[in-house]
This record gives sequence, C-alpha cells and structure tokens, in this order.
Amino acid sequence: MPRPIRYLKPPIVSSILDQKRPSTRANEAMHPKVMSEAEFASTRLKHAAYYSDNTALVLHMDVREGLTLLAECGVQVNCIVTSPPFYGQRDYQVDGQIGLESHPSEFISTLATVFDSARSVLADNGSLWVNIGDTYWSGKGEHRSGESKQSARRFGVRPQDKKGDGRWCIPKQLLLIPHRFAIEMQDRDWLVRNDNVWVKPNPIPDQVRDRCSISHEYVFHFVKERWYYFDKNAVGRSTESGTVLPPADTWEIAPVRGKAGLHKARFSEELVRIPILSTTPPRGVVLDPFAGSGTSLLFARKHGFRAIGIDAKQDYCDLMVQQLQKLAEEEYADQE
Ligand SMILES: C[S@@+](CC[C@H](N)C(=O)[O-])C[C@H]1O[C@@H](n2cnc3c(N)ncnc32)[C@H](O)[C@@H]1O
Repeated sequence: MPRPIRYLKPPIVSSILDQKRPSTRANEAMHPKVMSEAEFASTRLKHAAYYSDNTALVLHMDVREGLTLLAECGVQVNCIVTSPPFYGQRDYQVDGQIGLESHPSEFISTLATVFDSARSVLADNGSLWVNIGDTYWSGKGEHRSGESKQSARRFGVRPQDKKGDGRWCIPKQLLLIPHRFAIEMQDRDWLVRNDNVWVKPNPIPDQVRDRCSISHEYVFHFVKERWYYFDKNAVGRSTESGTVLPPADTWEIAPVRGKAGLHKARFSEELVRIPILSTTPPRGVVLDPFAGSGTSLLFARKHGFRAIGIDAKQDYCDLMVQQLQKLAEEEYADQE
C-alpha cells in the first residue's frame, strides 16, 4: 500500500517574519531615507579620509578596505555608479589593483566579491550601476612593435596576451566579460534591471580585417530588491501629449579622450547622468568605489547630491580633490 503523503508545516523562519510588508517597502522606496549631515561627517570617516568636506569624501585606499570602513561607519548610500578597471586594459601600478588577474574568471569573481561588500553600504532601495567593456583573448605574447604608443598601451604582457587555457581563452575569442559578470551578479542575488548599451559615435577603429570594430560598452543597472527608488521624470523623454516615457537603454555618448596629466580611462559626465539623476533622491549620497579622476563625484556635487569616492592611486585622489575644491570655490563665488 502506498504510504500516505504527510504535509509538513514549513518551519517558521524568523527572517521571513522580520520582513516588512510589500506596501511598506514600496512606500519607503518612493521616499528613501538619506544619511544625516552628522552621519556623513562622522569623526572616524573624517580621520580616515584623504579629503573631506560637508558634501564630499575621498578615500585613498584599496576598494575592499574602503568599503569595509564605510560599512563599519554605518554609511548608507543611495546610488553606486562606477567604472571598475576593465580586464587586461591598463596597469595602474597600485598594490592590489584589479584587472590583471591571469584568468578572466578570477577577474569576474574578484569584481563580484567587491560588489558583495558594497551591498551593505547600499540602501535596500538603492541602485548599483556598473560600466564595463569587453576584450579579446590574443595569446600573441609580448608586443614586438617598436611603436611606443602601442607598447605603452600593452604594458608588456597583458593577461590576454599569454598562452590561454584552450577553452574560453583562445586567440580571437571575445571573452564576453560583461555578460559573464552580470550572470555572476545574478547568481549572487542581485536583480539585473537593464544592460544599457553605451554607443560610442566615431570610435577609434580596431585594427582588424575579419570582424566588426567594437563601438559599445555596457552600463548594467543592478538592484538589491524589487522595490527601489527610480525617478523617471528626472531622466525621461516627454511626448507631445505631456506623458514622460522612460529613457531608452541605448545611450549615444562621445568618449572622453585622455589628455596629458588627466586620468586615461576617464568617463564622460554624460555617462552618469541617467544613473545619478534617476536613482539618487534629493540630498542623497552617491558612491564611486573606483572613482579615478572623480567624474561621478563632480556630477553628483553639481546636482546637489553628496558624494564619496574611493581610489587606490594617490595621483587620482589628488586630481579628485583639486576638482572638488575648484567646484566648491565656484559655488562660493556664485553665492557672493
Ligand atoms: C576605469 S578607472 C575609473 C575612471 C573614472 N570613472 C573616471 O572617470 O576617472 C578605474 C580606477 O580603479 C582604480 N583601482 C584599480 N584597482 C583598485 C583597487 N584595488 N582599489 C581601489 N581602486 C582601484 C584605478 O586606480 C582607476 O583609477
């Protein structure tokens, strides 16, 4: 005789009981909390910072150390927007730099682990935006041309120039880094809301004969849960009838070309416009954990938000500080 089916009562899990009702979550997402002035300017943060004022904080340290410090200080930001180092593109010559791991899977896992620790400093109804581009495996070994620009760009043997693993790391293979990264983030419980495509008009053409030239990168929008702050009106497209449509997920933005003395992998302020304006509430806080020259911080500050930047390279922190101070002086002069 078949055994009768016993229906077991599901165990009562306290975290389920603790969860807020969806309507409360949705309401909180529409009116997010922002950090108080006192929390933003806590003594511990000010002491650890390379630069701080009432509206901006620059941390000169490894991203993992910076995120741990922010979490320990109870920081809650509303928007994280960043462009981490791309795989095998640059040697920033700083200890612990990310981007030169010998296998792309190691790079993806390191990056996703950084964003795991960013979770605790991001408000539950906040957003994370990550700009990331792709690269090919070349397997060609060291660059042999005497052309100085080329050899500087390839700084000796980049990881993708080494002998590959014979699987994804084989010559001519597009590594699909952005896609693999986004899937890894999904596996680590992030919700992917968009894979926005940054289309670059008039890009510098790739020197190739057997494929199309790459002219785009991605800007992924991740959230922690389904209720999050998004102000469509701040970034939407108005129709003739007066309704506001959300922005499209393809953004045509001219790349910034590096100038001597400035950061070589700077992005344009236009690239952070939709991320910052749509997902930062008034007086909210924006964090860029790989801040470089501070593009995100400057855009955030110009639009009345507070901003935190982390970078491991001192020259870039100096650049950030210079630009933030210049902006503060201009604001002060305007008030006079
Ligand atoms: C693509 S750039 C960011 C550029 C920036 N969006 C801008 O507009 O200037 C990446 C930055 O990550 C920094 N970086 C690399 N590894 C790091 C690490 N382990 N911790 C903190 N910063 C790191 C580099 O110094 C570099 O400035």
